[in-house]
Amino acid sequence: MIKEDIRYGVDLVTYDIWRSLRVLPRIDEIIPGMLGTQTWDPDTYAKNARFVSDLGSPVLELLSARPGERILDLGCGDGVLTKKIADLGCKVVGVDSSAPQVEAARRLGLEAYVMHGEQLPFREEFDAVFSNAVLHWIKHADAMIEGVYRSLRCGGRFVAECGGYGCVEKIRTALVQALHRRGIDGESRVPWYFPTPGDYATRLERAMFRVDSIALIARPTPLPGDIIEYLETFGHSFLAGLSGQARDEYLQEVRAVLEPQLVDSEGVWVADYVRLRFSATKV
Ligand SMILES: C[S@@+](CC[C@H](N)C(=O)[O-])C[C@H]1O[C@@H](n2cnc3c(N)ncnc32)[C@H](O)[C@@H]1O
Repeated sequence: MIKEDIRYGVDLVTYDIWRSLRVLPRIDEIIPGMLGTQTWDPDTYAKNARFVSDLGSPVLELLSARPGERILDLGCGDGVLTKKIADLGCKVVGVDSSAPQVEAARRLGLEAYVMHGEQLPFREEFDAVFSNAVLHWIKHADAMIEGVYRSLRCGGRFVAECGGYGCVEKIRTALVQALHRRGIDGESRVPWYFPTPGDYATRLERAMFRVDSIALIARPTPLPGDIIEYLETFGHSFLAGLSGQARDEYLQEVRAVLEPQLVDSEGVWVADYVRLRFSATKV
């Protein structure tokens, strides 16, 4: 059921009204630079990135959702994985900072809202907060973790998987170095934060979570197509300011550097993914 409940502060119109009344400051006034240049298009996501939700089974198992539980999916994307939780008989709410992704999730019949993970407004409403492939996009992790803690009932779980330390290191290096060769500070364009287990466990414990498990998992990931499609889906911040021939040359240069490192003997591109997977409890 799609619900427009003002408690969630959720749809863009509501957010803009609150903002114009100065009830909410602009999100980039709170956390400068947070919005970045990455955007999400559900059709492109479905074509080039469906593996992201398809590979969400281990973290779904870790969640161990029970029918009737109320669960928040933080960064629900187009809702394909969220729907799997709803199909277990849970009452799921999805939130995501991308309006097109939220619209796609709503088309699946899910309750979903446009919201930044760093600004969760919920208070002790959920039995669990779930997240797949999102937290590495949130560099200001502490604000998000505190919001997750507030959103949970006592005894509630925070179960998530995201990119972990060393994730897509080869891809990242090739992207950064090709920008350096163009006189651009590539490091400043990196949109991801890939933490170690120690780093994230410390953040979780500082927010009063008990960490039940946390692990770094190497997961080389076959891509559905060419690396250029992957870069065009996930690498917007590196491409910002490049257009036409300059953009094509940049992408081809990165591709040429990566081909000997990431194409397997069958000719399949395999991304050097490393995941951080954890379960924590609000005690
Ligand atoms: C790789 S997708 C994962 C989507 C989904 N969880 C899945 O497994 O398919 C990452 C999602 O995180 C969302 N996202 C990125 N930064 C966010 C933030 N600060 N707050 C909420 N959502 C965010 C993006 O809009 C995008 O839909």
